[in-house]
Amino acid sequence: MFEHFDTPQELFEYRLGSALSMEEDSLQMLGELEEAAHSSELKAMFRHHAGETRQQIENLQAVCSELGLSADLEPSQTTKGLAKEGSALIRKSGDNLVDSVAVAAALGTEHYEIAAYEALIAAAEGMGQTRVVDLLRANLAQEQHTSEELVAKAKQYAMAV
Ligand SMILES: [Fe+2]
Ligand SMILES: [Fe+2]
Repeated sequence: MFEHFDTPQELFEYRLGSALSMEEDSLQMLGELEEAAHSSELKAMFRHHAGETRQQIENLQAVCSELGLSADLEPSQTTKGLAKEGSALIRKSGDNLVDSVAVAAALGTEHYEIAAYEALIAAAEGMGQTRVVDLLRANLAQEQHTSEELVAKAKQYAMAV
């Protein structure tokens, strides 16, 4: 773990490690949300994105090897906090609201992932690492697509009774 950053490369390496933790946390959260969700369609959506998340972890590992870095995990307090808040809200919600809560919780994580990838992509572009940019863009596209699907579901469940 870094104690102090002196170069943009060190900062990038930290962000990469943090993104790996973020994806590990997301994978766990998606499993919990799939279990909690009532709608079979929503369960399938979470399961599908869990599969994509496994691919995203592989892409991040490929980024590390492309740059000759070890794929060390750096703690991601944000995703842990989002997951904790999501499960606390699910526990407090009536059965009719669980899907709506699960969708909002997942949306929070997706938007954090989008921000993390946008920062990584900007840095990789600045470094002229085109292969790394391609791998990160593949992950970003999946997060954006999932986010759009979740927004559609949020509308659908808004008036669920
Ligand atoms: Fe992800
Ligand atoms: Fe995601």
